[in-house]
Amino acid sequence: MPRSKVTIVGAGNVGATAAQRIFDRGYADVVLVDIVEGLPQGKALDMLESGPVLGSDAKVTGTNDYADTAGSDVVVITSGVARRPGMSRDDLLLTNMNIVTSVTRSVVNHSPDSILVIVTNPLDAMAQRAFQVSGFPKRRVVGMAGILDTARFRTFLAEELGVSVNSVEAYVLGGHGDTMVPVTASTTAGGRPITQVLPQDRIDAIIQRTQDGGAEIVNLLKTGSAYYAPSAAIAQMVEAVLLDRQEILPCTAYLEGEYGIDGLYVGVPVRLGASGVEEVIEFDLTDAEREALRHSADAVRELVDVMAQDSQS
Ligand code: NAI
Ligand code: 2OP
Repeated sequence: MPRSKVTIVGAGNVGATAAQRIFDRGYADVVLVDIVEGLPQGKALDMLESGPVLGSDAKVTGTNDYADTAGSDVVVITSGVARRPGMSRDDLLLTNMNIVTSVTRSVVNHSPDSILVIVTNPLDAMAQRAFQVSGFPKRRVVGMAGILDTARFRTFLAEELGVSVNSVEAYVLGGHGDTMVPVTASTTAGGRPITQVLPQDRIDAIIQRTQDGGAEIVNLLKTGSAYYAPSAAIAQMVEAVLLDRQEILPCTAYLEGEYGIDGLYVGVPVRLGASGVEEVIEFDLTDAEREALRHSADAVRELVDVMAQDSQS
């Protein structure tokens, strides 16, 4: 059976690290694309040469030509500008909108049956843009952010409680920005609600750190943003699709009435499998969480409106 084919657009920190994680698993050939000549080719060759050590027979190629991406099963879009200290994700809006628009057109031309995983920030708005430009059904355009935000939340909770990260189950929903919504009411450690094992002030501090998680890394790195945890999240999504895992994961999906939100990409729990977003899962939320999710969706809609105005001008 031929291996699956995954294209990753953007051979920067996130794209190259995601390519490496997927190549290492050995079950998919990877094509890495960038506008910078030599960059994807050099990184891909370096990765390929790690195959004998890691035991991966997969192919990884670097290119500046979308013809090489033809027939991809999954395309991950990471191309764009990343944050620097003092910048919010929203500051990237119009620059990255133009990049995501042109990249999506090229990708769709060569891989009309692919599933698009959008990563470029501001994430929810970029997913909306890729959905509009691609003309794909909503199940085949999905954004990565919730797994990352949730991983940060689980990391901080596990540290606080002195338990394995595997013992903490949590979901962070909403837009990938300051208004993201960690749903504490259903967050558990070893099956016990965290509201029963941690005082509220510690929970509040961990929520705040999660919401500031991207900025915390940017302020430390000074020249870019996070990529180890983001690339791990991308690899989990790609695997859920390629191995048809039907895994329930927090991802950015197009809502048509779910959670009272209509016509917008927002982070929610979804069942991810071979067809892409197979189902949006509707959790029971407290009134406060539902309200926070709506507030977060409003922030996403503002960006979508700015993009629409820019496109008309
Ligand atoms: P980076 O600057 O290291 O890499 C971006 C790459 O995109 C560069 O190699 C650049 O040459 C390439 N590029 C720019 N325009 C292009 C085009 N038209 N076609 C092909 N390639 C193009 O940035 P990094 O750290 O990899 O981040 C990439 C994006 O992902 C940023 O927008 C960042 O904010 C976002 N991000 C989103 C996360 C999420 O949770 N959704 C997490 C981490 C990053
Ligand atoms: C993050 O949360 C930059 O969105 C990216 O780290």
